[in-house]
Amino acid sequence: MSVKPFHLAWFLQGSSIQAWGANWTGNISEEWMSASMFVDLARNIERAGFDYLLLEDSIYIGQNWQNSRDIFLKNGMSVPRQEPTVVGTLCAAATSRLGIVPTLSTFAYHPYLTARIIGSLDQVSEGRAGWNMVTGSSDFSAQNFGLDQLPPHDTRYEMAAEYIEIVTKLWDSWEPGAIVADRQTGVLIDPAKVHTIDYDGVYYKSRGPLNSGPAPQGRPVIAQAGGSKPGRAIAARYADTIVAHPKGVAAMKDYRAEVTANMQAIGRDPSQCKVLFMAYPIVADTEAEARERADARAVWAANNIERCMAQIGWTTNIDFSSHDWDAPVAELSTNGHQSSLYNFITKAGSNTLREAVIAYSSMGGSYDFVGTPESVAAQMGEVMEEVGGDGYLIALPNVSRKSVAEVCDGLVPALQQRGLVRRGYSHAQFRDNLLAF
Ligand SMILES: Cc1cc2nc3c(=O)[nH]c(=O)nc-3n(C[C@H](O)[C@H](O)[C@H](O)COP(=O)(O)O)c2cc1C
Repeated sequence: MSVKPFHLAWFLQGSSIQAWGANWTGNISEEWMSASMFVDLARNIERAGFDYLLLEDSIYIGQNWQNSRDIFLKNGMSVPRQEPTVVGTLCAAATSRLGIVPTLSTFAYHPYLTARIIGSLDQVSEGRAGWNMVTGSSDFSAQNFGLDQLPPHDTRYEMAAEYIEIVTKLWDSWEPGAIVADRQTGVLIDPAKVHTIDYDGVYYKSRGPLNSGPAPQGRPVIAQAGGSKPGRAIAARYADTIVAHPKGVAAMKDYRAEVTANMQAIGRDPSQCKVLFMAYPIVADTEAEARERADARAVWAANNIERCMAQIGWTTNIDFSSHDWDAPVAELSTNGHQSSLYNFITKAGSNTLREAVIAYSSMGGSYDFVGTPESVAAQMGEVMEEVGGDGYLIALPNVSRKSVAEVCDGLVPALQQRGLVRRGYSHAQFRDNLLAF
C-alpha cells in the first residue's frame, strides 16, 4: 500500500537563549548573541527534509504577571529576542532548500516594509522566503510603537486584509521579464514593466512600485495562524500554509475540513494551502523513558505554576496573578489570541485555575505523541491519515542540540522508513516543495 507523505515544519519559539538551562546547548551565557544555535537547527532540519523554519516573534518584554517584567526576565521567557529576519537571513545563508519564514506583525511594520523585507529575503535565499502574518496580541507591544493599545481583534483582521492586498500588489509591481540586463543597449530594467500600485484603503496607503525588485517566487509564501473566525477567513483567502493547534483528532479534522470548505467557497483549490498541526513529540530510546518524560511535564508545571500562568497570560494577554488559583476558571475574554484562550477554557472545564494551568502546560500540541521514534512515527502517520491534514509543525518547548537530534536523527528517519515524509527535496524553491505533495 502506498502512503501519502506529509510535510514537516519547525516552529522556533522563544529566543536564542530559551534553552540556556538545558543539556547540550553550549555556553549560552557567552554565546547568546550569536545565532549559532539557530543556524545549526536550520542545517539539521534541512538535512531532515523539513519544508520550513517558522521564526516566532513578538516585540515586547512580557509583563503579564503582577504587572511586572521580572518573571519574564529572570527566566528568559522570550527575551532576549532578536529580530527574526536578521536571524532568518543567517539561516538562509547556511541552507539551500529550506523555507525561511520570519514573523512580521501587521501593526509594527508598514506593508511596504514587509513586502520589501520578505521580497529581499526571497532574493538572497533564491526563492525560499515566507512571511508569517500575525496581527499582534499585546498592548505592551503596541506601546512600543506609539499606540496606547492594539486595535480591537476583528478590526485588526480587517486591517490585515488590506495589508496583505498591498503586500501582494507590491510583489506583483514588477512584471516577469522586467529585468532585461541588455548589455548591448545598456538597459537594465524595462520601465514599462514596473508599476505603481496606488493603493488607497481605509487603513493603509501605498504608492509603489517596490524598489527592491521582483522576488524569485513572484509572491513569497504566506503563512498564517489565526484560529478565530476572521483569522480563518483571511487564511483561506491568502495563506499558502496554515499552522494551527486545535486539540485532538476530531478538532484537527474539523479544522482541515473548514479550511477546505472556506477555500472552495471563494474558488481556491484547497490543495494549494497546507495545514500543519502543532506537535511536541517526546521521543526516547524506550517507551518507559518517553512516558516518564511526558509525565514529568505536569510535575514541572505544578512546581513552576507562576511561570506557567505567566506564559499563558502572555499568549492570552491576561494577568492571572490576581485570580483565585483554587477556584474554577473565571469567564475570560481577550483582545489577544482568541483561539488560544478558547483552547485553554475548553481544556479547563470545571477545573480550578491551578489544575487547568497544569493540564494546559503539560499538553503536547494538537496531539500528544510520546514513545520511541518508531512508535511516534506510527502514531503520527495514523493521526494524519485520520485527519486528512498536510503535516506537522514541530514545536518543542525547549530547543537544545539534544532535542533537535532526537527529532532529526531519531524521529525523522523512522518517518522516512515508513514513507511518511520526504527523503530529499525535489525543487529549488520553497512553494514548489510545499506543493509537491
Ligand atoms: C503555531 C502558531 C504560531 C504563531 N506564531 C505567532 C508569532 O510568532 N507571533 C504572534 O504574535 N502570534 C503568533 N501566533 C498567534 C496567531 O498569529 C494568532 O494571533 C493566534 O493564533 C490567535 O488567532 P485568533 O485571534 O484569530 O484566534 C501563532 C499561533 C500559532 C498557532
